[in-house]
Amino acid sequence: MALSLFSPLPLRGLTLKNRLVVSPMQQYTAPDGLVGNWHLVHLGSRAVGGAGLIITECSAVSPEGRNTLFDTGLWNEAQVAAWQPVVQFVQEQGAKIAIQLWHSGSKGSHRHPQQGFTFLPPAEGGWLPKGPSPVPLDNGLVAEAMTLADIELVKADFVAAALRAVQAGFDAIELHAAHGYLFHQFYSAMINHRTDAYGGSFDNRIRFLVETVQALRQALPAAMPLLVRLSVVDYSDDPRAWQLADGVRLSAVLKEHGVDVVTASGGGFVPVDPTAVFPSYQVPMAEKIKAETGIITGAVGMITEPAQANAIISNGQADLVLMARELLRDPYFPLRAARALHLPTEIPVPYKRAF
Ligand SMILES: Cc1cc2nc3c(=O)[nH]c(=O)nc-3n(C[C@H](O)[C@H](O)[C@H](O)COP(=O)(O)O)c2cc1C
Repeated sequence: MALSLFSPLPLRGLTLKNRLVVSPMQQYTAPDGLVGNWHLVHLGSRAVGGAGLIITECSAVSPEGRNTLFDTGLWNEAQVAAWQPVVQFVQEQGAKIAIQLWHSGSKGSHRHPQQGFTFLPPAEGGWLPKGPSPVPLDNGLVAEAMTLADIELVKADFVAAALRAVQAGFDAIELHAAHGYLFHQFYSAMINHRTDAYGGSFDNRIRFLVETVQALRQALPAAMPLLVRLSVVDYSDDPRAWQLADGVRLSAVLKEHGVDVVTASGGGFVPVDPTAVFPSYQVPMAEKIKAETGIITGAVGMITEPAQANAIISNGQADLVLMARELLRDPYFPLRAARALHLPTEIPVPYKRAF
């Protein structure tokens, strides 16, 4: 039988009840990295709304891994305790929940978006961000190049945060390796100008991500899925820019190292040409990765309609459909989509009289 948006998907020890995923979305509402009532209701209502998997917003593995002082985190025990009720509520609704772990690298230390998202200097509680190479920041300063010791420390921070995620009860881990943040800064030659083992060739530039994946796979329970979000293209004319063939090649390497899912996103260093952004614009990238590597693949970007989302699965273009802004407009989109598509899905018991 043909697959639909509401077909279950096995992922290592997990089974997702459907293929509709809440794409990670930063909320900037977590001082000290602590989630609270906002996240309980925000993520909880999307679980009630019927999504099969919720991926949290990018959550920093260390204080310097944030880009504002309001980003969620998982670098201490208080944050584990704060996530627990959110995780539990989401799971009680039959949804699974992954935490997106992240380091912002040279994109760190900004004011809250409501305060203009400009650089937050150390004197005001910010820090001088570090990245692969001493690239100019948007504040006229230059990011510090990470030493080999810094790289080891960040890898250890990812492992420690992932183990805290297990403790908090999360079902899966996603590494945010897209959108111009630290892992992407390493694998794109636009930003990585290193001459050591972490720069230069393709293999050297992906080394930091691959070593982190290896360390995570060793530390995590075998049944726990590991997802990675990539910018599979840089959307730039720069001759050093990352191209889809690189994204495909990296996905194949990640699969070999035990990554279960790749989500095909793009960009992060230069503004994207608005004419290149249209419904399903990134789906062909997911399709190519799926076809050429066989890894379970997520499609994301301007997917907003039930028939559109369903066709991506039933045509075999991707295995998962991630939606961001449409799920901010309508947390109950999955329930609405099931009705529109005449496909069965579980209705929350207290809501049954409406269906
Ligand atoms: C408010 C907002 C916050 C976002 N935060 C994140 C994030 O934390 N991590 C991430 O990987 N992508 C983030 N994104 C990107 C989305 O996950 C998604 O890839 C993008 O919005 C395109 O999907 P859409 O057209 O369905 O909105 C964010 C997008 C929005 C709108």
